[in-house]
Amino acid sequence: MAEHDSSVGGSAVESTPVEEESQVVSPWEVSAKAGGKIDYDKLIEKFGCQRLDQSLINRVERLTSSRAHVFLRRGVFFAHRDLNEILDVYERGEKFYLYTGRGPSSEALHLGHLVPFMFTKYLQDAFKVPLVIQLTDDEKCMWKNLSVEESRRLARENAKDIIACGFDITRTFIFSDFDYVGGAFYQNMVRVAKCVTFNKVAGIFGFTPEDHIGKISFPPVQAVPSFPSSFPHLFAGNDNLRCLIPCAIDQDPYFRMTRDVAPRIGYQKPALIESSFFPALQGETGKMSASDPNSAIYVTDTPKDIKNKVNRHAFSGGQDSIENHRKYGANLEVDIPVKYLSFFLEDDDELGHIKKEYGAGRLLTGEVKKLLIEVLSKLVERHQKARASVTDGMVDAFMSVRPLPHMFS
Ligand code: TRP
Repeated sequence: MAEHDSSVGGSAVESTPVEEESQVVSPWEVSAKAGGKIDYDKLIEKFGCQRLDQSLINRVERLTSSRAHVFLRRGVFFAHRDLNEILDVYERGEKFYLYTGRGPSSEALHLGHLVPFMFTKYLQDAFKVPLVIQLTDDEKCMWKNLSVEESRRLARENAKDIIACGFDITRTFIFSDFDYVGGAFYQNMVRVAKCVTFNKVAGIFGFTPEDHIGKISFPPVQAVPSFPSSFPHLFAGNDNLRCLIPCAIDQDPYFRMTRDVAPRIGYQKPALIESSFFPALQGETGKMSASDPNSAIYVTDTPKDIKNKVNRHAFSGGQDSIENHRKYGANLEVDIPVKYLSFFLEDDDELGHIKKEYGAGRLLTGEVKKLLIEVLSKLVERHQKARASVTDGMVDAFMSVRPLPHMFS
């Protein structure tokens, strides 16, 4: 499951010093207890974030006058830090900005990679706020065995997939670390770095003295987009603008560090809205891995690939014989087709109906898979069309350092 490649630098990264259980969630490794699922309640407790409850979702709907995104309604984004404060700010008629990112480690994105971007696009449209997207080409160059040149190339390729998610160019700035770090951004990195000891990052990220210093000095790079003064062309004179970060919960350690440092350098803490992981086809014990092609549906897959992968590899909660299935029904708790549908089938009534019929054994796994194949094929086809129309000129435009005069309107 891990995207972490320990061949570079040779460190065995463990997320936290306390490993009384075998579940590991860090920016480099996501794995559940042997044979089990990720325990998200435990994660909330361990990380110290808050559960995103129904009253907050209702508040989001009220403030944006729109239906909450499927990922909110279905609990895909399930945890937060200070989201209520962001909503207070917004309710007072002030704005905030969004910050998210991607480490360009592979050419083709899989569906799990799209989840935070689909959600961020919804937030941008619903709240009408600016968005900065960080491409951490430097990070992947240091953690994966990638050359500087290859990381830079992947960052641009991934930018096309991100743009294909439909972001509004009048409110969106995409930047790569290799190109953008410097000036005010770098000044903030140094402010942060001075507040963080080696012992501190060792505790948060599990770094050891054998790790190269590139890794050890990286966390401030991911921290400072949380501060508006890192983007003078966007937020000059707006130093107290709040920041909301949509991300998967494995990124939480970076922002724990950021929130710890922020008040000490006179800055606002960023707020977070955090998702669970998109499970592998084989079952819910971690997140999809870019390195096992059969564990994931890629945005480059053909309808035939999708059909084969779902039929052959999607873990089924159905019973071993039709007779038993009709008698006992499917175990929806472990069923991947149902899980995937709960991410991507928008119609709540239809999903409810499928769960009821499948759980009662009246629907068979093959029938549910067939529906999933349709839903995913449509989604992937739509993405491929959108990506094909993203030109190099558009990438340059999204990535150019420029003011966004209408970003709040
Ligand atoms: N480290 C993230 C990754 O490997 C990329 C990233 C940078 C990011 N900044 C972020 C993700 C902010 C979420 C939010 O993919």
